[in-house]
Amino acid sequence: MVKTYVRPAPMFVKGSGSYLYDVENRKYLDFTAGIAVNALGHADPEMAELMYEQAKTLIHTSNLYHNPWTGALSQLLVTKTLDSGSMHDAGSVFICNSGSEANEAAIKFSRKVGKVRDPSGKKHEIVSFHNSFHGRTMGSLSATPNPKYQKPFAPMLPGFRYGNYNNVEEIKNLVTPETAGVIVEPIQGEGGVIAATPEFLTALAKRCKEVGAVLIYDEIQCGLARTGDFWAHTFLPEEAHPDILTTAKALGNGFPIGATIVSKAVADAMVPGDHGTTFGGNPLGSRLAHYIVSRLSQKSLQDEVKVKGTIFINHLKKLQEKYPALIEEIRGRGLLLGAQLDRDPAPIITAARERGLLIITAGTNTLRFVPPLTISETEIEEGFRILDEAIDLVVHGAKIEGTHGKVVEA
Ligand SMILES: Cc1ncc(COP(=O)(O)O)c(C=O)c1O
Repeated sequence: MVKTYVRPAPMFVKGSGSYLYDVENRKYLDFTAGIAVNALGHADPEMAELMYEQAKTLIHTSNLYHNPWTGALSQLLVTKTLDSGSMHDAGSVFICNSGSEANEAAIKFSRKVGKVRDPSGKKHEIVSFHNSFHGRTMGSLSATPNPKYQKPFAPMLPGFRYGNYNNVEEIKNLVTPETAGVIVEPIQGEGGVIAATPEFLTALAKRCKEVGAVLIYDEIQCGLARTGDFWAHTFLPEEAHPDILTTAKALGNGFPIGATIVSKAVADAMVPGDHGTTFGGNPLGSRLAHYIVSRLSQKSLQDEVKVKGTIFINHLKKLQEKYPALIEEIRGRGLLLGAQLDRDPAPIITAARERGLLIITAGTNTLRFVPPLTISETEIEEGFRILDEAIDLVVHGAKIEGTHGKVVEA
């Protein structure tokens, strides 16, 4: 394994609902959901059943031929997007294998639209924002102006410009007639769970229309019911809707798949051969995502996410009252939440893990909470009991020793 990650000791061998089990059968409550991926929890029985069913039937044909599921998934994504009152121009979908690839397609599609609108080639710039995260491939990385990620791989691709998130005044000079596309997360996930203001997104959309640039919402982390709406931008007025919407993570609940949803105007700029993928849209992934989208688009599930989000926030507020110096701010919507700490969260995360709770960080000193959307109220309570204990130990300077000796039934 190339050393691209530093991993703690447990090796996970099994998952069930909101829990993971390590090689010694110790049980961990998962507030990370594989980085906002396992929205339906681990080992969803119906997903496993469908996977087996489809694997016995047809896994892959390549995009040279039709199969029943790529089209069905594309249609479902468009229909559910329109039904939810989001992206009113949604018309068609390109299916790929990851978030980075979904953004890569969005960047390429925007450049193609730019070429069609201005054949001189001048309209090719891509605008993105500081503190964002759009992926690790060279295109999506070029749109991710974080020196930690970009510097080792410089130079970035030409034609990328960066602005300040939520700065409305700056938009006019940032987005110009030479802009082909603007990519933005309605809520920055990796950046520390920071939401764009409706005014910023509305102004961005207005400026994109003025100059004929494509507006891309990267909802790879914040979309698909994570905020309690089908998409994070659902609540915005129509004039703030995007021309392209990218998704991945929860789309496959762990099966690698991504999608780029585009308006008719964007689709019209594309011709056969412009873009492609060998695995993208394979019948297995598409059938699984079809089932997952059917579940995540249910209003009842989304309403529950809102209720659970409030329960989470209430627990976080209680912790903040108890440790006012430690917890500076609580941010986010639904089950995409962040607690801004005054220090490095690493010791708290270690103490929590050693007591059977998994949490991740984001941004600078932010504790990020992205549990399965199916998590129960009792599980949330259990998690906060452990987190409180972990914080107590760290804040009061106690020596942290692993107490996670609990062996559960196999
Ligand atoms: C908002 C956003 N965009 C893009 C990506 C990249 O997705 P992937 O890791 O599937 O390539 C991520 C992953 O964390 C993300 O959070």
